[in-house]
This record gives sequence, structure tokens and C-alpha cells, in this order.
Amino acid sequence: MADLLLGQVLRFAADPFTHGEAAAMIDTQGAVLVKDGRIAATGPATALLRDHPQARVHDYGQSLITAGFIDAHVHYPQTAIIASWGKRLIDWLNSYTFPEEMRFADAGYAAAVADRYLDLVTAHGTTTVCTYATIHPESVDAIFSAARVRGMRLYAGKTCMDRNAPEGLRDTAQSAYDDSKRLLQKWHGVDRLGYVITPRFSPTSTPEQLAALGALWAEYPDCLMQTHLSEQVDEIAWVRDLFPQSRDYLDTYEAQGLLREGAVYGHAIHLTDRERARLAEAGASLVHCPTSNTFIGSGLFDMGLARTMRVGLATDTGGGSSFSMLRTMAAAYEIAQLRGQALHPAQLIWLATVGSARALHADSRIGNIAPGLEADLTILNLASTPAIEQATRRAETIWQHLFPTIMMGDDRAIRAVWMGGKPQQR
Ligand code: GUN
Ligand code: ZN
Repeated sequence: MADLLLGQVLRFAADPFTHGEAAAMIDTQGAVLVKDGRIAATGPATALLRDHPQARVHDYGQSLITAGFIDAHVHYPQTAIIASWGKRLIDWLNSYTFPEEMRFADAGYAAAVADRYLDLVTAHGTTTVCTYATIHPESVDAIFSAARVRGMRLYAGKTCMDRNAPEGLRDTAQSAYDDSKRLLQKWHGVDRLGYVITPRFSPTSTPEQLAALGALWAEYPDCLMQTHLSEQVDEIAWVRDLFPQSRDYLDTYEAQGLLREGAVYGHAIHLTDRERARLAEAGASLVHCPTSNTFIGSGLFDMGLARTMRVGLATDTGGGSSFSMLRTMAAAYEIAQLRGQALHPAQLIWLATVGSARALHADSRIGNIAPGLEADLTILNLASTPAIEQATRRAETIWQHLFPTIMMGDDRAIRAVWMGGKPQQR
């Protein structure tokens, strides 16, 4: 039996960073036909109602039907320490993150947080995440198991660290390779799950560990590889001390086989000209984490990079201060304003859907509304609070109608979420 969702349908025919707002296609009285977990058709409501009289109808009125949000860089084990006060990156890792990540040696705790985290992101309209686990294989099993039960498309990997982390939170080059390989063989391609090779960042990996993970990636070239790059100035200075023979931060990865298409670098704020050129040439992906970059005081990402590279958007939970991709779009808007650029609402929604899907090389499966794509959909109430409702009263265009929800919206704006063709309980 097919389902027919009615509402204002927003989809993308092109990239709004290169084609402007005309890249977005809006059907104000539109419909999306969902069948067997996939989008079967989209178009005007009248036509789809006529052609599919047997379908179960879900009328969302004036609400906006968009592809589900894709959060391209998170740390689900940091769910409980989100919004911790007063530190910058390295102190924040040592004070809050590492003690919390230590607890994931307990498979029961890992399973409980994985479930809580997926409940939270679903309530915020996010249908796919790409997450770091901890060094513990149990933490990878926990998040993949939880996602599988929900029918969620999810990417994850064991975080690898063999130095500059406390006892109990370090593996070795060999065990990182062995554990990652075993987890990859267990989970990659199972249902809607993808394994991601995950060295945390150069300060917590020896060159030997980076090389071992580079070798693993060469054995499994269709996997993604994720890590952090040039997030804070102090971090970059530390990398320079730890890798005196490297040309720059990117070179610490490049030298070990960790730079090519399918590499997904979080943050990438303070880049040199050489790094920018090499990243573009190699076809790597960058992920902008704006609430994190302001919350831990990292810096202002250059959104101009979206014209030449795959750029995704992410909360970076729990360095980021919100689970909401709406709040994250708002922060991306604010950071771009500080750099002299006003991002169009079409660009903001695109970053959270198609942009993140492209960054994860998943755009042939998710991130848009088109026949054949997996049916992950988020339905936004564009008048979810009195403050937002009054700001939309004089709206003449869909963008004027949508922008207050982007800037002021949160989980209250999420009217419904469909994942793999099924409505989710929230
Ligand atoms: N760099 C290395 N690890 C982390 C992390 O957990 N969060 C953030 N924001 N940056 C990192
Ligand atoms: Zn991160």
C-alpha cells in the first residue's frame, strides 16, 4: 500500500550555490508518493490524488515537506555532555569529553545513550547522522544496532586514538586496524548502515596508527573516512609540534593515505592556501559545524568553499550546542553574515539535505525528494510558536515564510518525520 503525503513540497533540481534560488523547486500544493520505503513520485497534489486513488493520504496542509535533515558530523557519545560550560577545544576534550567517553566501555550504557540520542535527533527532524563512536567496539555495535531497529540510514565508526588520551581511552595502531576491520566487515552495507574509518584527529594518533588506517581504507575503498581538520589555532600549533616533518595539518593525513574522495573532514576552518588547493583537487568533503565553532570559540568557516567542494552541515554534538539542524542552519547564516555573506534560505536547507548527502557520497540514496530515493522526509510546521507565527504574517514568498522557522525554530517545528517510508513515533 502506498502513502501519499500532501503539503508544500521543497526539492532541489540543482545546487543553489552555483544556480541560485532557482535551483529549488516548490510545489505549494504538492504531494509525495511513498511506496516500499522509497519515493515513488512527486508532483501537484491534484495529479497524484487522481493517479493514486488507493493511496493512504496524509494531509499536512501548509506545512513544508522537505528531505529529512542529514547531520554529517556528530559524536553520539557526547549526548550527555552537550552544553558544558567554559572550555576551548583541548581543555574541553580533557575535562568533559574523555571522561564521558570512558563510560562507553559499558555496553549497557552505550546502548542506552545510542537510543536516547536517536530519539532526540528524530524529534529534531534529522533522519541520517554520520557519527563518531568511542574507542570501544561496543559503542559502534550500540549505535548501529539502534539505527537498524529504526530502519535509519546511519554512518558510524570506531574512534581511534593511540596517544594523548587517558589510560582506558587508547588503542594501538594494530588494535585500531583489527577492531575497525572487524566492525567494518560486520556492519558496512548491512541494511542502511555504512562503516566510516575514524581516526579522531592527528594529535591523538601516531603516524603509525594513521598509516594503519590508511592501509585499511585502501582495502575498503568504498567506505568513508572521517576525521577533524584545522578546528582551532592552538590545535594546529600542537599538530605542528607533533609532526615536524609535515608541511601542514592536512599533510599529516595525506602522507598516510587519508586524503582522497570519500574523506570527510570536520571543521576545516583555518586552512592554508595549499590545503585548500589540495582538498579541492583530491575531491575531499568538508563539514561545517557552526554551533560548535561559536560554542567552543573555534572560528568562522569560509562558506565560499561550497562553490568548489562538497560541503555538508552538522551539529557536532556535543561540541555543538544543539541537536537541531534548524538551529545549525541559523548559526551557519550568522557565521556567513560575519564573513560578509547572506546565505539564502534555499542554500541553508540545501546544506542540511543535499549538501550533507553529497559530502557523505549518499546523494544517490538520500537528501532530496525525487523518484527512487529512500523516503526520508521531514515535515515542518512553519508557524510552530507564537513568535514565529507573527513573523510570517506578512510573508509573500515561501522563503519569507520559511526563514523565521530556520532562524527561530527547534523541535517544536517538526510536525512529522518519515524514515525509510515509515512515519516515526516522536
Ligand atoms: N577534535 C577532536 N575530537 C573532537 C571532538 O570530539 N569534538 C570536536 N569539536 N573537535 C574534536
Ligand atoms: Zn567532531
